[in-house]
Amino acid sequence: MSPSSTKPPFRKGAFGKGAFMKGDRWPGLIEAYREHLPVSDATPVITLLEGNTPLIEAPRIAARAGVARVLLKVEGSNPTGSFKDRGMKLAVSKAAEADAKAVICASTGNTSASAAAYAARAGIICAVVIPAGQIALGKLAQALIHGARVVPVTDTFDVALDVVREIGEQPGVVVVNSVNPVRIEGQKTAAFEIVETLGDAPTVHCIPVGNAGNITAYWRGYREFADAGRAKRRPRMLGWQAAGAAPIVRGERVLHPETIATAIQIGNPASWQQALDARDESDGHIGAVTDGEILDAYRLLAAVEGVFVEPASAASVAGLLRAATEGLVASDDVVVCTLTGHGLKDPERAIDQVEVGEPIAAVASDVAAAIGL
Ligand SMILES: Cc1ncc(COP(=O)(O)O)c(C=O)c1O
Repeated sequence: MSPSSTKPPFRKGAFGKGAFMKGDRWPGLIEAYREHLPVSDATPVITLLEGNTPLIEAPRIAARAGVARVLLKVEGSNPTGSFKDRGMKLAVSKAAEADAKAVICASTGNTSASAAAYAARAGIICAVVIPAGQIALGKLAQALIHGARVVPVTDTFDVALDVVREIGEQPGVVVVNSVNPVRIEGQKTAAFEIVETLGDAPTVHCIPVGNAGNITAYWRGYREFADAGRAKRRPRMLGWQAAGAAPIVRGERVLHPETIATAIQIGNPASWQQALDARDESDGHIGAVTDGEILDAYRLLAAVEGVFVEPASAASVAGLLRAATEGLVASDDVVVCTLTGHGLKDPERAIDQVEVGEPIAAVASDVAAAIGL
């Protein structure tokens, strides 16, 4: 999970003032995009050198979807293994600037892991409220090992977020969920990187939707770069919810959301209206994919493109394949799919998907026969 990529998007002049040149060490998001972010010289830069994630060509998935190109924005390559680091870096830096004593979040897992890591770096208390039993093991381990004060509650993410918002009214406590506008500002930088790498925006962008902060952030990033003349076009935003947790698609709150993609198991998205705006302003679509489609895409990504993601991330590719069958994409489309989190976040799901053989004696001929060689 290194923050470096083989083909960095940064190059001479890429950051407006031309301060960073190809070959320079990646400076992290605030230094790379300072002029586009709500920071000043008074803002301490709390960084793990997040961002600058790979944009990987996926020719086999492109062939299946019948589009010109598919590129995977691999956000699992961020320091804590998910896209949350982009917004969290900014949220914790701003909390440190405000002399906060604690940051607090409700989480389906990745937000807590990211908040815990950045808070540890800033020397601030991190409190996390999670829906009990609904957090992938890797994420829970991360939050705990970074020293977060984790409180499981016997209710949904949506109720946990209500509780967090109430506690966040105390002085010195900053909510770092995506309802904190600074989070969206940090996350929009992924769209900047895509435009810089491709030389323009893609024609279509597929993204999983849970609390809907990320689709809001990408759309803002694409809009800002188009308005600044850095991109000639804006993509159609195709957002994908899990069928058992699809309030935006159904047009009503889901009281008991259910999906194997726990990261998007959300029944009342905080950025619901902004997701609709992204859809409508971009002539896009928000649809639902079943857990079966998500798991098919999850295995496909690992098996044919070599990219291991957590189930929620695969919703973007599942969505693209569904969009292809529904005639929502065309043969000349250039599609970016955001892969939001690393596969190792949810090791139990991966093990559940495969067969682990019984042990045999360590004899070369027997082992070779077992391998089929
Ligand atoms: C791996 C992963 N994918 C997708 C999402 C959904 O992002 P958002 O809640 O911003 O819609 C999340 C949110 O927790 C996530 O952790």
